Amino acid sequence: MASSPNLAILLVLLSILCTLSEAKEFLVGGDVAAWALPPSATSRPLSRWAEANRFQVGDSLVWKYDGKEDSVLQVTREDYLLCNTTNPLAEHRDGSTSVTLSKSGPYYFISGAEGACQKGEKLIVVAMSRRHRHAAAASPAPSPVEAEGPAVAPASGGDVPLVAPLGRGLAAASLGVAVFLGLFL
Ligand SMILES: *[C@@H]1O[C@H](CO)[C@@H](O)[C@H](O)[C@H]1NC(C)=O
Repeated sequence: MASSPNLAILLVLLSILCTLSEAKEFLVGGDVAAWALPPSATSRPLSRWAEANRFQVGDSLVWKYDGKEDSVLQVTREDYLLCNTTNPLAEHRDGSTSVTLSKSGPYYFISGAEGACQKGEKLIVVAMSRRHRHAAAASPAPSPVEAEGPAVAPASGGDVPLVAPLGRGLAAASLGVAVFLGLFL
């Protein structure tokens, strides 16, 4: 009997760990030297890297760069397109920057180094809601009927239809844990 509460706590911790471990950490560009001027104006290594990956809410992006020479600015779509560095949403210049994708939708990053964004040192990442992970893999064109909750303002670059309800997965996970514990206690 005495060990039951401990077992319960252990199970809860384990289930939390399992949930957390789903979150991935992406080294931007797949290389410590990737946040840099692209080799040519037409090559878009950062865009190609972003297109080759699937980002989900809870994942994080990590940049490695020389904080004395460069920086990472999170900006609006408009400032991304114009390479406008004057009023970023967030500015990082610590040389080792981590940004968690806390909600679904597009994220826009540009370099704060003089002229670098114009030469292609910029990145768009679209974070997908975790709830749609399986559905999205099964059906390439999710129907708009699936969309509930606040849709992300459609950037006219229109990447992916996205919805943002975060609570649901967590609620489902907690219920699962409760049922599981119910069976054992
Ligand atoms: C850049 O953004 C600032 C503030 O957001 C604005 O005042 C300025 O006009 C913009 N510059 C360009 C070139 O769009």
